This record gives sequence, C-alpha cells and structure tokens, in this order.
Amino acid sequence: MTSPSEELHWDPETVRKNAYKAVDWVVDYLSGVESRRVYSDAEPGSIFESLPAAPPEKGEDFDSILKDMDEVVMPGLTHWQHPSWFAFFNANTSGPSLAADILSSGLAVQGMLWQTSPACTEVETRMMDWLLDLLGLPQEFHSSGAGGGVIQDTASSATLCALIAAREKVSGFAVDQDGVTEKMTVYASGQTHSSIEKAVRIAGLGSRQFRQVATDADLRLDPADLDRQITEDRARGQIPTMVVATVGTTATTAVDSVSEIAEVCRKHDVWLHVDSAHAGTAAIVPEMRWIHDGVEDADSFTFNPHKWMFVGFDCNAFWVKDRQVLVQALSVLPEYLRNEATESGKVIDYRDWHIPLGRRFRALKLWFVMRSYGAEGLRQLIDEHLQWARWFEKQVSEDPQWEVTHRRTMNLVCIAHKDGCDRTEAIAKALNSEGQISVTPTTVEGRRIIRFCFGGTQTRMEHVEGAWEALQRAAR
Ligand SMILES: Cc1ncc(COP(=O)(O)O)c(C=O)c1O
Repeated sequence: MTSPSEELHWDPETVRKNAYKAVDWVVDYLSGVESRRVYSDAEPGSIFESLPAAPPEKGEDFDSILKDMDEVVMPGLTHWQHPSWFAFFNANTSGPSLAADILSSGLAVQGMLWQTSPACTEVETRMMDWLLDLLGLPQEFHSSGAGGGVIQDTASSATLCALIAAREKVSGFAVDQDGVTEKMTVYASGQTHSSIEKAVRIAGLGSRQFRQVATDADLRLDPADLDRQITEDRARGQIPTMVVATVGTTATTAVDSVSEIAEVCRKHDVWLHVDSAHAGTAAIVPEMRWIHDGVEDADSFTFNPHKWMFVGFDCNAFWVKDRQVLVQALSVLPEYLRNEATESGKVIDYRDWHIPLGRRFRALKLWFVMRSYGAEGLRQLIDEHLQWARWFEKQVSEDPQWEVTHRRTMNLVCIAHKDGCDRTEAIAKALNSEGQISVTPTTVEGRRIIRFCFGGTQTRMEHVEGAWEALQRAAR
C-alpha cells in the first residue's frame, strides 16, 4: 500500500517532463504573441462560464490542464508582451526574469526573516545597492549607511509604507493618541497617481486630508502653491506629514522638480517621498539622470523594475534614508518569530520593511536581469527606447493633422488630432479595436489625448514604424 504522499505528488521525472512542457508553452507563446490581437475581445463572464463550477474529484493529467491554457485562458488574455503594446506603461518580462521566476518558484523559500533563508535577504540587500548604482541614485539610500532598500510588490505598497513611516515619525511614534491621524495632511500634484490618495485612506488619514497641489504649464507640481498650502494647514492646526513628488506622472510623464520640492519640505520639516514608478528606469541612461536631481534630499524613493526594466511583475524597489524609522513603524514581534540572528542585531528581517509577513525570493529576478544584460546592455536598450520615442514624436510633429500635446520627457509621446477630442477619441478606439496595436486614450485638463509608450521587451523599430502607419491609416 502506498501512502497518498507517495502516490499523488509528481515524482521528479514527472516534474521535469511537465515543467519542460510548461516552458515550451511559454516560449512558443512569447515568440508567437505578435500574431494575436493585443486586446482580448472576450465578453464579460465568458471565461468564468467556460470553467467548471467545482474542482475535479480526481486529479487530471497535465496535458489536459495545459490544453485549457490554449482553449480557456488564451481567448481572455490581453497580451502585454505584444511588441505593439504601447498602452499604459509597460509591464515587461524577459528571458532572464522568466528563468529567475522558475528558480524562485522551485526553491519556494519564504524569506520573512533573515533566518528563514539568509540568501533571500542578503541577495536582496545587495541587489538594492546595485540598483542605486545602476540608476545613479544617491548613496544616502545605501545599506552601508543608515538607509536601505527593499523589494515590495507594487509602488502602491511602497507609498503606503512611506506614509506609515512618516505618520509614525511626525507623531513621535505616538500615533495612537486620539485625533492625531485626523489632522495629518499629505500633498501631491493633481497629476499624481491614484495610489497616493488610496494610501492616505488606508493609513487612516482619510481622503479629506489629501491636498492637491497646483501644477505649472508642464504639469509639474508648483512648489510655491505647496509652500502656501503647508503654511496655511499648519496655521489651522493641521499636521503636514508627507509630500509626494512624482517623477514621470502617469498621464504625461511630467517630472516634478524634486530639488525645489525638497526645499519646501526642509523648510517645514515634512517627509518627502519620491514616486518614480515608471520613470526610474530612464535614469539607467546617464543623460536622463536629471529627473532625479534633488532625490538625495528625499526621505524615501520608489520605482518599479517591473514596468520598464525587463523584470517581470511583481518587483517594486523602495528605499528609505533612515531604515530605523521604517522598521520601528512596521515591526511587531510575536514570540514565534524570535530568533538568535534577529536578536544579534546583525541581520535584516525584511518582514519589518513592508506590510505582508511572508515574502518570496524576488531578488533573483533583479540579479539575473542585471547580470544577463549588464549595465551597458540595459543602457543601450533604454537608450533605444528613447530614440524610438524621439522618432515617433518627430513624425507626429511634422504631420499637419497631429499635434504633440505635452512635453516629451522620456519614452511616452502624448498626441491629439487637430480636429479635436471626438476625432482623437474615435481614432484611439479604432486603433484598439483593430487589434494590431494598443494605445491608451485619456483626458488631461479637459483635452482628449492618446498616449504611446515605447518600452517593450519584444518591440523593435519596425513596430514603432507600424504604430505610425496604423495612426495615419486610422486618421484617413
Ligand atoms: C507614477 C505612478 N505611480 C504609481 C503607480 C502604481 O504602480 P503599482 O501598480 O506598482 O502600484 C503607477 C502605475 O502606473 C504610476 O504610473
């Protein structure tokens, strides 16, 4: 008689055989993704309905499971890795990232504490230091000093952690006092990402305490308005707690002046968090490092390697200048997590650096990507994306029908048809419904625009030219 454990788990040879099939499936998918329509045309509920209402009673063989990837899942996919994906920002993956994810899944370590897998912690600490170097970010965030970096799931979580740390710091770690949180205020431009207001709600301040700061003609936060609002709030007995500078706003990649904002934050002694979620990767190219001027004066900084840096979702990078504040804000130590390594004070326990307790070995993705491409390879790739955007911008600006609506700061080009919003909207709809390319239409200060973001792992110059041809065709 064999036990269920002996009988039911895949034996090593079955794992090998089936995992190879899974890899073949993914590689075939990625190399053929161009032939698929970018956006899924699934009807709402259709995928749900094609799945059985209950799990199978008897286990099924892997081939029939994999077959349903083609038959059930594929019709409901929007293909983010399509070479003509120009919508939103990218959510890239790459060969090295994919390989690292396989290893991470196989190792399946849970690195909540240094002790629960020292390599999971120490590779991550080193990778966060490498990233500082790769992007030319200030050494104030380096693990060798008082600062340090950690991988989070998303920029939304990073911003929430920054706010929780700022909230604790400003209250002298006495945030439990009645009424303190309700007086705390957070500031960002009207162009900032929705995750900032969400963090303000989740952290218990409430949307009422979120202040939108005016922007200039280039949609950058106006430091004078920030100064005025903080001064007025203080006079009213409010507690200014955090300012968010956005480097690369979601709609148009406007770049707030971090150094001017930092000056206001210094004057009022307010935590400065810099959200460079998409744009951060641009700084791999030295000519783009200006976007982070002044970051050395920030208290925290975040960007998403999982957007533009060829690291598969999820992988957000978050740094603080004073790790003690973050750890004190987030650490709760139950008896079962006590261990000698933690008590020695010589190790990092990343569970204290973010919201979840558990964490997987995401640093492998960063390690594999940075080693496989090298800093030089990454610079060349990002530089090529910037050239594509420059080329596309030139075509648009030389065409009498079209207009570049906002200053291009990096790999995003925002355009509108000169006939107005309705025409722009109709063309965006036509482009997306044809299925060969994807774009994001949005409204900025009342004007309908189309965003083209050039940064896909699979994208080549021919796809950028194809986007321009598709745009011209749609406008005929
Ligand atoms: C500027 C900015 N901040 C934050 C985010 C949120 O990113 P995440 O999905 O990692 O939370 C985005 C998403 O596009 C963004 O553009």
